[in-house]
Amino acid sequence: MGARFDTSPCRPQDLGKFEVTTRDGAARLGRLFTNHGILETPMLLPVVNPNIRTIEPREMLEDFGVQALITNSYVIWKHEKLRLPALEQGVHQLLDFPGIIVTDSGTFQSYVYGDIDVGVKEIVAFQRDIGVDIGTMLDVFGRPDQSIDELKDAVLETVQRAPESLDEAGPDLLLNGPIQGGLHDFLRSESAEKMGSVSGKFRGFTVHPIGGIVPIMERHRYLDLVKIILAVKETIPVNRPIHLFGCGHPMLFPMSIALGVDLFDSAAYALFARDGRLLTPHGTVRIGNLKEWPFPSRILNGVTPSEVREMEEKQRTDLLARYNLEITQAELARCREAVRSGKIWSLVEQRSHSSPELREAYLFLKDKLILNEDITSSEIIRSSFPVRSGSERWTSDSGARPHLLHANALICERWTPPLTNWKGETMQNPGVLLIMSGRSPWRDSVKSDIIRALSHNPNLIPLIQTPNGLLPFDLEDWAPLCHIQAFDSIWSSLTLPSDDKLREFGLDPTNISILESTGEAIEKELRNQIFNWLEKSQISAKCSVFLNASRESTEKWLEDMTVDRSSTGRIRNVFTADGRHVLSPRLHDGGISLTNEGAKDLHSFGARLPKLVLQEDAIPFVRDGRNVIHGFIEEVDAHIAPGLACLIVNSNGELVAHGVSKCTSNEIMSFSKGIAVRTRGGIKIQDIE
Ligand code: GUN
Repeated sequence: MGARFDTSPCRPQDLGKFEVTTRDGAARLGRLFTNHGILETPMLLPVVNPNIRTIEPREMLEDFGVQALITNSYVIWKHEKLRLPALEQGVHQLLDFPGIIVTDSGTFQSYVYGDIDVGVKEIVAFQRDIGVDIGTMLDVFGRPDQSIDELKDAVLETVQRAPESLDEAGPDLLLNGPIQGGLHDFLRSESAEKMGSVSGKFRGFTVHPIGGIVPIMERHRYLDLVKIILAVKETIPVNRPIHLFGCGHPMLFPMSIALGVDLFDSAAYALFARDGRLLTPHGTVRIGNLKEWPFPSRILNGVTPSEVREMEEKQRTDLLARYNLEITQAELARCREAVRSGKIWSLVEQRSHSSPELREAYLFLKDKLILNEDITSSEIIRSSFPVRSGSERWTSDSGARPHLLHANALICERWTPPLTNWKGETMQNPGVLLIMSGRSPWRDSVKSDIIRALSHNPNLIPLIQTPNGLLPFDLEDWAPLCHIQAFDSIWSSLTLPSDDKLREFGLDPTNISILESTGEAIEKELRNQIFNWLEKSQISAKCSVFLNASRESTEKWLEDMTVDRSSTGRIRNVFTADGRHVLSPRLHDGGISLTNEGAKDLHSFGARLPKLVLQEDAIPFVRDGRNVIHGFIEEVDAHIAPGLACLIVNSNGELVAHGVSKCTSNEIMSFSKGIAVRTRGGIKIQDIE
C-alpha cells in the first residue's frame, strides 16, 4: 500500500487544535494538530504492546495506512530495557514509528492487576520526557459494578488529579482527560463537564477518552455504551475529539461515529488473532470450520482457511492480526466515506442487524431521535443538513434519519399555507387537496390534476403524502424528500394524515379532497393563472422554510417578481419588480440560494434569518468573499444551522456578507480552527447605499 503521511510538526499555534472539515450531523471528519502530523479522524489507534509487537509499527504505517498508534507508557516505564532507550532516544525511535504516538497511563493495568506503583505526576512527566504526542493522565477506572459512591469518588479523584497532570505535561505534551462514571448518565455528564472545563498552565485537555467501558463491551452491553456516549456528549466541549477507550470492534464504528465519536483504540486485532478469530463489520467469526473467507482480503488472498488452520501458531497469529487490522481500517474508511456522502445513518441501520444487542441499542436511539425530547437528540437532528441532493432508500428505519427529521421539523415549524388563493382572495380556513397517487417529480405526474382540482375549489392546499410524512406540494422538489425510493406496497399503504397533523399545518381537517385524475380539459388562461399561483407559492414556501421568512413578508418583497427559466421551464432566477436578481431556486436539490441583493433586502427588512457578528479584523476579508473562520466570531443567533443561510454582520449590525453555515451556534462559539460559514457573497462598502 505504501501509505505515507506528513509526519512533520504542525505550526506551534495549531498544536492541540481540532478542526472539523466534513460532517453528517454529529458524525464528523476532523483534523487534530500534533507534533508528528495531523491526525485525521475518525481513526483507530492500534494498540502496540512494546514487549510483543505482533505487527511492527513501521509496517502498520507503510502497509496499513496507520497514521497514529497507542502504546502504554506504564509498560515502558516499568521495564528498564524499554525505559532507558525511550528516555534516551524518545518513544518514536523506540517503536520505530515516525507518526503520531498516543500513550495510556497505567490506569487499565490498575483495573486488571490492582494497584500500580507510579505517581500521578510521575507518569505524565515520563510521557513528556519520552516525547509522546498525546499522553494520558492517571485516571481512576470506574467499574460498572461499583456503587454510585465509589463511582463518584472515581470521577472526583480523576478531576482532582487533572490540573497537576496538565501542568506537568508542559507546553508540548497534549493530554487525554478520561471521562468516568460507570453506567450512571448523571455521573458521566458531570465527569465530562468537569474534565472539559479544567484548564492547565498551558492548555486544557486535548482529547476526552470515555473510560471504564471495556467491561461493558466485553458483555456486549451496547445499549449502555450508547447511553454513556449520549450523556458525555451532552456536556463535553464540542471542539474536542472523543475517544472510546478500548473499543476497536468494527461492528461498533458506524453507530459510535454517528453519535460523534472521533477516535477508537484496540488490541482486538492482535488478541482475537491469537484466539483464531476474525473481526468483521458484522461481528466475530472463528476460523474453526470455515471453508471460505467471509470477506475479500488482500492479506488472505491466495490462502484458504484450512491452510491457515494448519499453520504453526505464530505464523497464523501474524497473518490473522494483519487481516484483522486490514478489515478494521476498511470499515473505518467506509464510515468516513459514509460521512462524506451523508449516509452514516443508513450505515448505522445496516450494521444494527449485526447482533441483537446492537439492534437494541439502535432501536433505543431511533425512539430517542423520533421523540426528540432531549438536548443530544435535538443537536444530532439540528446539525444534519436538511437539503441534500440524491435519493433516500427507504426501509422501516429510515423515518429516524436525522436529516429527514430536521427537514420535517422545518416544515412543521416554518411552513404555513399561502395567504391568498389563485383568484387573489384571502384564504379562510383552507382545506386540503391530498395527493396519494403519482410519483416524483410530482410537478410532472400530478400538476395538471392539481390545476383541475383547484379550478373547482381554489381554497385547497395541495399536500403530498409520502413515506416520510406530509410534503407540501409547494416544496415538491426538495431533495431528498422528493426522492424517496420505497417499494410500491409502501406507497400504496400510506394512510390519511390525522386531523391533528393537518391542524398543525394550519389546514381544516374537515375539508379534505383526495386528488383524482379526471382528464378534464381546462381553459388555457385559467390554467396559466393557477400555474402562476403554484409557482409563486413555491418561491414563498422555500423562503419560509429555508430563509425563515414569513409568507406575508415574501409576498410583499416579491409582489411583482419576474423570473427566468431553465430549458425545461423551471424557475432559475427570481428578480424583484425593479429588476434586481435576489434569489435562485436550486434545481438539483430544491433549496434556494440568495444573491447579494437578496441578502441586502432581507437584512433591511429585519428578516428572521440567523445572524452572526464578525470580529472587526476579519471584516475586510469576508467582505472580499473569504469564508468565515472560527475564532473571529463575536456572537451568533441560536437558530443558525448547518446547510442553511445566514447573514454576517458587524458589531453595529451592518451587513458584511451572507453565507451558508457549516455549524450549530454551540460549535461556532467553541471551535478555534476551520471554516464556520461558507461565504456566498461579500458586501463591499461601496455596494451599500
Ligand atoms: N483503557 C481502557 N479503559 C481505560 C480507562 O478507563 N482509562 C485509561 N486510562 N485507559 C483505559
